[in-house]
Order: sequence, then structure tokens, then C-alpha cells
Amino acid sequence: MQVAPVLLVLALALATPSSSAERKCVLTGFWINDLGSNMTVSALNSRGEFSGSYYTAVSATTKEIRVSSLQGFQHFNKQQSTFGFIVNWSFSESTTVFTGQCFVDKDGKEILKTMWLLREKVSSLHDDWKATRVGVNVFTRRRRE
Ligand SMILES: *[C@@H]1O[C@H](CO)[C@@H](O)[C@H](O)[C@H]1NC(C)=O
Ligand SMILES: *[C@@H]1O[C@H](CO)[C@@H](O)[C@H](O)[C@H]1NC(C)=O
Repeated sequence: MQVAPVLLVLALALATPSSSAERKCVLTGFWINDLGSNMTVSALNSRGEFSGSYYTAVSATTKEIRVSSLQGFQHFNKQQSTFGFIVNWSFSESTTVFTGQCFVDKDGKEILKTMWLLREKVSSLHDDWKATRVGVNVFTRRRRE
């Protein structure tokens, strides 16, 4: 019996990721969420920092929606890693922070599960109690670049 070829095949099988969960999930690319909002994330630098643009489909203001910039970082050299980013709304004085994790499902599809806090500008300390909203969003990838 030829043992060496069998071991070689076994070694190759072990070296190849056997489940999609072992794939990394990097944020770079174009994503759309459950509300129809979309975002484009730049290539990550060596520290995992990224920038990008966010186009919301919904707004708490009556102002015309415009594309807004985002900045964040990801623990990108790990699999299915966590990330956070801040959106600086260009058409209002509000700020949103997102935090989430990039998952790869059993079909190899990448999904971002996120939660956000939206801080709205209020005119006085008296109105502070109502200034923050919280929510969840799920993003799916549309493009890699
Ligand atoms: C991104 O979202 C904005 C606002 O909803 C929309 O106008 C635009 O067409 C979307 N971009 C793509 C490529 O889907
Ligand atoms: C944040 O948004 C303001 C407009 O409200 C803009 O002037 C500023 O350049 C933006 N900053 C960043 C870092 O995108």
C-alpha cells in the first residue's frame, strides 16, 4: 500500500479551509442593508483603519439626503471579526456610531450584523433625554471593491 500519497492528500485537505466560517470577512467593498441604505468601504490600511461613504435610505430630518463620510476600523486579520465606524452626516448635525461583526454564513455569504446609536442635536440640555436613538441593521455584500 502506498502510504505517502494518501498522507499528501490528507495534508492538502486539512490545509484547505473546510468550512466557510474559517474565511476572513473584510469590510472593503459595497454593502446594502435591510432598509436599502448602502455604503462603500475603502481598502483597510495595515492598522485595519478604513474610510468610506454612507448613503442612507431613511432620515429623521426633512433635509435632502446626501452622501456622508464614514471612518472606522476592523480587527481584520482575524476571521469573522468585529468593527466599528462613525458616520458624519453631511446634511444634518447628527452623528451615528455603528458597531458590528462580519459573519460568513454556511453558503459563504458575508453578512454584517450591526447595532447603531444615532445622536441628534437638540437645542438645549433640557431636551437631552430624547437625543439618542438605537437600532439594528443587517448588511449584505454587493461588491468586493
Ligand atoms: C445608494 O443609495 C442611494 C440612496 O438610497 C441611492 O440613490 C443609490 O442609487 C444607491 N446606490 C446604489 C449603487 O445602489
Ligand atoms: C463632517 O461633516 C461636516 C459637514 O457637516 C464637514 O464639514 C466635515 O468636513 C466632515 N468631516 C469629516 C471628517 O468627514
